[in-house]
Amino acid sequence: MKETDVQWAGEMLAKLEEKVKAELGRLGDAIPYMPHDGKYTDVAQERGIDWWTNGFWGGLLWQLYSVTGEDVYRDAAVVQEKRLDEALYRFRDIHHDVGFMWLHTAVAHYKATGDEQAYYTGLHAATLLAGRFNTVGNYIVAWNDNKPGWVIIDSMMNIVLLYWASEQTKDPRFKTIAKKHADTVARYLVREDGSVGHIASFDPDTGEFLEQIGGQGYSASSAWSRGNAWAVYGFALSYKYTRNSYYLMLAKRVANYFIASVSRTGYIPRVDFQAPEEPKIYDTSAGLCAACGMMEIAKWVSREERQFYEASAVNIIRATEEKYANWNMDEDGIIGGATEAYHRPSTYEVPLIYSDYFFTEGLLRILGKEFPIW
Ligand code: GLY
Repeated sequence: MKETDVQWAGEMLAKLEEKVKAELGRLGDAIPYMPHDGKYTDVAQERGIDWWTNGFWGGLLWQLYSVTGEDVYRDAAVVQEKRLDEALYRFRDIHHDVGFMWLHTAVAHYKATGDEQAYYTGLHAATLLAGRFNTVGNYIVAWNDNKPGWVIIDSMMNIVLLYWASEQTKDPRFKTIAKKHADTVARYLVREDGSVGHIASFDPDTGEFLEQIGGQGYSASSAWSRGNAWAVYGFALSYKYTRNSYYLMLAKRVANYFIASVSRTGYIPRVDFQAPEEPKIYDTSAGLCAACGMMEIAKWVSREERQFYEASAVNIIRATEEKYANWNMDEDGIIGGATEAYHRPSTYEVPLIYSDYFFTEGLLRILGKEFPIW
């Protein structure tokens, strides 16, 4: 990592801490997602306690606790975790995003402090995820809503919860499920050119692959950039936990496609790399997530390749900060320019909590001080 980039990341981290403390002062126990008129509301009341992003604020706080040791971050993160207990007990709406929700809260709490209850909450969430495995099709079903045959690329981040559970319990079942699922995703969603589909549909009774389906990108055959980012980071993480070089090769293939695509647009990804030229809509969350994935890849490749992935990641993070950071301490949300979905114009280029999370993780990765949420 270049010294000038490390120095820059240190300066950004100081500003970020100041802003997060200001936000904490306004939030109480609310779970933040997208500010309205510059102020966070409680997304659990608007979208439910099971909303897939409900862990990210906790994860961001654990990152800051790990690097500073300040109790204020730990205490606020635990408040977020306790609120999510309701989702576990309610069960009804639980989906595959238990990884996003509890890796950032209970599992992070356990890793940071050894808290016993947090450990069991993490294992409970992992067991729910394992229970979604379709043994005929070898996939983890993503959602409910009468869609027992749908798999989505985002799942590559969630299965880290299974790798963690096997490490902890020395029981290979969780890891075996994660690997089988990763193989299915690789086969049916990662394309030859390094682009990635969002949804694969299977017959849940026979396990037969049916088709790729369009989700949050432009179309079924296009390349939703956040989905591509989930693949970059997710396959790099599957390599980290299995050391199967096939996963690293896939992570690099998708990362190379991603880097080639963002090099045309100032290192800010469009929402979909294969959408029509107009309208031009961007998604900072895709870039920041992919950048963290590229820095994970950099850990596992040769020195020559490492520089390429690190430099690409830094280009993305710095370009995003320059264009989209909001350092006004009186307004909530740090990184703007995130987009939920191509066909959801009400969320075009807004601040979303996962952009802030991946910006924080990205800064800490540049500094070599990230906390291992994943
Ligand atoms: N996991 C849902 C999304 O990326 O929007």
